[in-house]
Amino acid sequence: MSSTKHASQHIQIAPSILSANFAILGEEVATVAKAGADWIHIDVMDGHFVPNLTFGASIVRSIRPYTKIPFDVHLMMTHPETLVDDFIDAGADHITFHIEADCNTLALINYIKSRDKKVGLSLRPSTDIATLEPFLEHIDLVLIMTVEPGFGGQAFMENQLEKVTYLVKNYPHIHIIVDGGINPETSKKCKQAGAHTLVAGSAVFKTPQYAENIQSLRHE
Ligand code: DX5
Ligand code: ZN
Repeated sequence: MSSTKHASQHIQIAPSILSANFAILGEEVATVAKAGADWIHIDVMDGHFVPNLTFGASIVRSIRPYTKIPFDVHLMMTHPETLVDDFIDAGADHITFHIEADCNTLALINYIKSRDKKVGLSLRPSTDIATLEPFLEHIDLVLIMTVEPGFGGQAFMENQLEKVTYLVKNYPHIHIIVDGGINPETSKKCKQAGAHTLVAGSAVFKTPQYAENIQSLRHE
């Protein structure tokens, strides 16, 4: 598909609450949803798979009542299978875990589908897209990391967009998410590459003008 086709495509924005004000997290979720967010991206980090620790399922449960839009949960965990039920029971709509995790990938994919949730795989920048091949027919989403997982506010790694174009060309059923370093300039490149949803933390929460910040990423 030509890049102009993608340029006209509506792109979804999923603010990452990793950059939100944790002291008023419920209100932040409600505010950013009202400001036009399509999904809420929840970065779960276990302090082992990545050197940072963030949200448990109880936080997800606490913020669930603040909006009806999908909770897109990104499990940056070595053993995602240990807590997947807790996050689903707390209100997750999508569960994405890493191909580099220490678990039975296909078994966990099938389990998440048995709980009627959308399932995705994610990969670090250093991991080849070919590692996902055996699983792509079984999943709904692929989350392409354009930063090293663990922290917000990092610089966008443009070379990762090759993974987006590869999926667009060979696996048109896959919903492609790009995550990390998304801003008005890099979002245009992601849209042209054919991404469907962009995760943005600092670009959305950097100033109180959430609606303008979200709109600046859509290029419509
Ligand atoms: C990084 C997280 C990203 C991050 C994006 O490990 O997966 O979702 O929060 O933050 P920004 O948009 O600030 O790069
Ligand atoms: Zn993320």
